[in-house]
Amino acid sequence: MVRRQQMGSPVSELLGVCMVAIILLYGGSLVLTGQGDLSAAGFITYIGIFSQIMRPAKALTDAFTNIHNGIAAGERVLQLIDEKNQVADKPDAKVIQSFENSIKFEQVGFAYEEKQVLKDINLDIQKGQTLALVGPSGGGKSTLVDLIPRFMDPTSGTVKIDGQDLRDLDQESLRQLIGVVNQESILFNDTIFNNIAFANESATKEQVIQAAKIANAHDFIMGTELGYLTNIGDRGSKLSGGQRQRICIARAVLKNPPIMLLDEATSALDTESERLVQESLYKLMENRTTVVIAHRLSTIQNADKIVVLEDGRIVEVGSHMELIGKNGLYKRLIDMQQFAEG
Ligand SMILES: Nc1ncnc2c1ncn2[C@@H]1O[C@H](COP(=O)(O)OP(=O)(O)OP(=O)(O)O)[C@@H](O)[C@H]1O
Ligand SMILES: [Mg+2]
Repeated sequence: MVRRQQMGSPVSELLGVCMVAIILLYGGSLVLTGQGDLSAAGFITYIGIFSQIMRPAKALTDAFTNIHNGIAAGERVLQLIDEKNQVADKPDAKVIQSFENSIKFEQVGFAYEEKQVLKDINLDIQKGQTLALVGPSGGGKSTLVDLIPRFMDPTSGTVKIDGQDLRDLDQESLRQLIGVVNQESILFNDTIFNNIAFANESATKEQVIQAAKIANAHDFIMGTELGYLTNIGDRGSKLSGGQRQRICIARAVLKNPPIMLLDEATSALDTESERLVQESLYKLMENRTTVVIAHRLSTIQNADKIVVLEDGRIVEVGSHMELIGKNGLYKRLIDMQQFAEG
């Protein structure tokens, strides 16, 4: 299509010039030899007018291709807008105002289409606790955490918050209680300020700066060209991985939700930025109910409960010391990491 579009202009130009040349040759010869009724001046006027018609005629065809481009693009945009949400609220969905007691997983199973990813998950997260999820890559940690804000519904079993099935609740109100920092930072092509204030549109400049300071992001933000008004490009492409993550953490700090879900992706960071991200994560976890997926096991030794997930099953639960004592998968993971670091 692009090839034809690009060809369009030179081809019509060439044809136009040819037409004028032919008319000029034939008409000119008629006028000069005196065969036609037209005077020389009349003929020149005619040529002038004819060449003027070329331009609007070309604009007309251009408009036509533009309209078609627009229709094709419009279809794709509408397709995106019409996309159905994977989880739907019940007509009588209840609004949840606060988080009081616990989040419970009861016999939860989950499958992406055919692929069973979680099996028999039973978990109890008490208010104020920090629960750490560890385990080999692909074990289903991110999937398990995604069930809490109800990004998808479990295929079997139930997830309950304060004894209420998530499927009976209003999604919007549930997500108000939850802050998420993902493995992949979700950022928009906008200013740093707007990206942080995304969770709380009425936030003032002072609040945003305060949140950025807690997230260890203030210093690098001030180092950018326009400070908080710097545009960060598509998906934050003008920032480094650690900077992107700290912006996301600042966003979560600003939202200040009772429940925090952290999927740390510190493996992509160097030691210095990892320390900065880690520090800001600790601050974020204070006084909250937190579920943290840890890749660096050294960071979760103080967690109230550590859950080891392998192939979609919980294989071990306990505190750091208990699990070390069990001498199972957790101990092996710790040993491997210490070996790698040593
Ligand atoms: N959207 C999806 N569609 C189909 N399969 C998926 C999808 N997301 C994840 N999976 C599969 O589910 C399994 C668990 O993925 P998950 O992202 O929960 O792992 P993880 O424990 O978070 O791993 P990591 O430590 O690498 O982040 C993987 O085998 C993955 O291939
Ligand atoms: Mg993951």
